[in-house]
Amino acid sequence: MCGIVGYLGLKDAREIIINGLKRLEYRGYDSAGIALKDCDSNHFSVFKDKGRVAHLESITDYTFQSCLGIGHTRWATHGEPNQVNSHPHNSAKGRFFVVHNGVIDNYKELKSTKLKETVFESDTDTEVIAHLIERYSYKMSVSEAIRKTMSLLEGSYALAIIDTEDPNHLYACKNKSPLLLGINDDGIIIASDVMACVGYSTQYVPLEDKTFVEIDGASYTIKDIIGKEVPHEIKTIDIDYFNIEKGEYSHFMLKEINEQPAVIRTIINEYFDGDKVILNGKTSEAIAMSDRLYIIAAGTSMNAGFIGRELFEKMANIPCEVHIASEFAYNMPLLSKKPLFIFISQSGETADLRAGLVNIKAKGYRSLTITNVKTSTLAREADNFVEIHAGPEIAVASTKAYTAQIVILAILAYGLSDKHIDLRKELSKVAISIENIIDKKDYIEQLVKEYLTKRNCFYIGRGIDYYSCLEASLKLKEISYIQTEGFAAGELKHGTIALIEKDTPVIAIISQRSINKNTRSNLNEVKSRGAKTLIISTRSIHESDDQIVIDDVFELFSPLLTVIPAQFIAYYAALERGYDIDKPRNLAKSVTVE
Ligand code: G6P
Repeated sequence: MCGIVGYLGLKDAREIIINGLKRLEYRGYDSAGIALKDCDSNHFSVFKDKGRVAHLESITDYTFQSCLGIGHTRWATHGEPNQVNSHPHNSAKGRFFVVHNGVIDNYKELKSTKLKETVFESDTDTEVIAHLIERYSYKMSVSEAIRKTMSLLEGSYALAIIDTEDPNHLYACKNKSPLLLGINDDGIIIASDVMACVGYSTQYVPLEDKTFVEIDGASYTIKDIIGKEVPHEIKTIDIDYFNIEKGEYSHFMLKEINEQPAVIRTIINEYFDGDKVILNGKTSEAIAMSDRLYIIAAGTSMNAGFIGRELFEKMANIPCEVHIASEFAYNMPLLSKKPLFIFISQSGETADLRAGLVNIKAKGYRSLTITNVKTSTLAREADNFVEIHAGPEIAVASTKAYTAQIVILAILAYGLSDKHIDLRKELSKVAISIENIIDKKDYIEQLVKEYLTKRNCFYIGRGIDYYSCLEASLKLKEISYIQTEGFAAGELKHGTIALIEKDTPVIAIISQRSINKNTRSNLNEVKSRGAKTLIISTRSIHESDDQIVIDDVFELFSPLLTVIPAQFIAYYAALERGYDIDKPRNLAKSVTVE
């Protein structure tokens, strides 16, 4: 993970880098650092420490002007988050500063073979890069030294590099980790994500793997690893500045929960012409041609995938499997004759998914990515992609991307379905029903105070509700740190019921008439062992003492509603405990390491 921002130009490098890092904190936020050159001298200053970008801002010297700098926000992989391990890292003689996103798999080997004499300051893998570049810079040009270093690195990296002896240049290179250039007449930005460039650049250049970039302020050259110039595409930044600000909301998560009805309406506008679904023909064809779908995803996107499986199997009669991306990449199941691999990822950058995509591409199989970021690696590298149009999602705990993914999966499944429903109308109904739940958020906050009083909690449900429980419990544990399990209601009695004691919160999701009675009897089992039960049910099957009653919609779409109270439950439980809701501990939004 980690976020990188670098700048060389006529503007204030410090402002561009610090603001950019704040927007990239979703990539990791356990430490942050910046190296800046003083415009009036050849002096470079480094500020770095454990903690957030706001802390970095407070320790950065603002008394000098700077037009060149590189910055970093970290999610620790090698070495604990402390001042020494924070980036930028400096080479042995102090000539080069380097910031890095990724993991160098062979860093130990490089230390013991190429850098035997070097004294290392930090525990990071990154430091080898700074030392290697410096070492080769004695024998060749800086560009060649960087490319030589690239040729030795195994693993993933996006790098921004400063040569303190030549402050008219800034360098970057990448392999597997994302990196792009934000371009403007008065300077060039290097960044992990286009979000860092919004407000400063209107155009950007996504960089391909194994490319190297030399920037001289007004212009840039992109080369491959052997130094041959490579063609590139300039794209327009179409992210609205207001979409990446919190506005009236106290947290991005609250804003994003509230945006869900609007997101569903945006998807309807994007993918419907009247009542007809309009999708890229190749996408529908790829699904129709396959004999089995394999959904590959991680975290919340995997939970959306479970709902997708229900939709594909129950609406479209296509067999579908869901696989944990990190398992699938190295332990592929026995495949059907005509498989289609569907990669679901909010960010489109998750390394565990990419490893799987690389594997199946090497075997010649077809792929489809469903993502929120159309410029992402997974969107670029799959045969087809479908954009979910959720808009930038900033809070680490995913909310609107989850519902958007399910809506897209419903649209894909519907394309092959023989069920005669008015999909547009049903989805519009869902948007209105979500608004009805949002109106009850204060009441849900009260329920949280009353019920979520313990260090642990269970969500239980059956069928499609079980999959909603998986997402509901992930949300709660991610941000409130309450140990929560999503359980198939009928399975609890086979062991885990041993954990139920007086006042253990058990939340049931019941949206399907066919399993209503069964789940309620499982609730009775836990109640009689002291559990405090809270029930989310749909109007047509609710009982008088169910606490949260939601509207009836087309049954297979109920996960789009049942998740909303669960998102609020997580939000208010975290708020009550005073945690950092948008940036929960140990997590990052875009996980670009395996
Ligand atoms: C991280 C995030 C999760 C997210 C998962 C998959 O672990 O903390 O919230 O669900 O990555 O991310 P993706 O971008 O692939 O959907």
